Amino acid sequence: MVEAAQDTKQSSIDRKASQTAMFAAIYRHIATMEKNTSFRGPDGLAQLFLPSHLRFLLRFSFAKRSIINKVPGIYEYVIARTKFFDDLFLKALEDRIPQIVFLGAGYDTRAIRFNEFNLQTKIFELDSPYLQKKKKAIIKNNNLSIPDQLNFVPINFNNEDLETVLSKAGFDKFKQTFFIWEGVTQYLPEQTIKDTLEFIKNNSGPGSTVAFDYFYKSFVDGNLDFYGAKELYKSVNKVGEPFKFGIDEGGIDSFLDGNGFDVLANYTPDEFEKAYLYDDKGSFKGKMNDYVCHVHARVQS
Ligand SMILES: C[S@@+](CC[C@H](N)C(=O)[O-])C[C@H]1O[C@@H](n2cnc3c(N)ncnc32)[C@H](O)[C@@H]1O
Repeated sequence: MVEAAQDTKQSSIDRKASQTAMFAAIYRHIATMEKNTSFRGPDGLAQLFLPSHLRFLLRFSFAKRSIINKVPGIYEYVIARTKFFDDLFLKALEDRIPQIVFLGAGYDTRAIRFNEFNLQTKIFELDSPYLQKKKKAIIKNNNLSIPDQLNFVPINFNNEDLETVLSKAGFDKFKQTFFIWEGVTQYLPEQTIKDTLEFIKNNSGPGSTVAFDYFYKSFVDGNLDFYGAKELYKSVNKVGEPFKFGIDEGGIDSFLDGNGFDVLANYTPDEFEKAYLYDDKGSFKGKMNDYVCHVHARVQS
């Protein structure tokens, strides 16, 4: 039933900016208003990408609650994943990794938010042409400057060649690179995932790594027993960006090994909650979806 609904809706990113990228920005904006500073979101720029009526409504608790409650677990997942990817991004800047590539950057603002810590890292943001056009216009209209190190690279991952597109943008395949794939793998066909890993393996310098979140395959195949599953399917089917890819529970090591990567760290949903959703006093922010994992992996030498 779920699959049938998915099949009737083709990806819409060729025709308009991604709705799921907007959802991520909405959750990040709501997180900036958290009372508990341990869970307060750091992305003060996320609000710029929201329509003004929504920004207005989100000043009110009822509106925030209604969005948070619509799909249980997603808000907590976004709070946790923002911390996870922020930490890795900042560490890469600190280690002066020469290049960072965002695969499906959406309305990510790290290149701007953390620009002061960026001494020499070149950043490439990849996403659909529609989304990037809109994002650049919003940045410009808000008088924010685009950091010199930031390069926008329009692409459709499903039918364009990463090597061609990135090398035209000045990417150097011999340099160590950190690839960030946040909130994206679940929307891509398995072949695109494998091709992307193959690209990373063959087009990055020694020590290069990739970090991404991924869904359990059984969830993507339609198992609705997971926390917030029914609500998420309903919402994603409406916007025409169906789930396509997942990895079996416990299968990440063999999947990545088979594609030429070693796992540096992998978090199951439980482990991720323990790492990111408790504050110093032990209070728990709330349950996140139990079908999503996070991994950081290195290209095998
Ligand atoms: C859920 S959003 C996540 C965006 C961002 N990484 C974040 O966490 O806010 C998924 C992103 O992947 C991009 N995306 C999905 N499929 C794509 C494709 N085939 N080609 C280019 N971008 C794609 C969408 O445009 C969207 O910005």
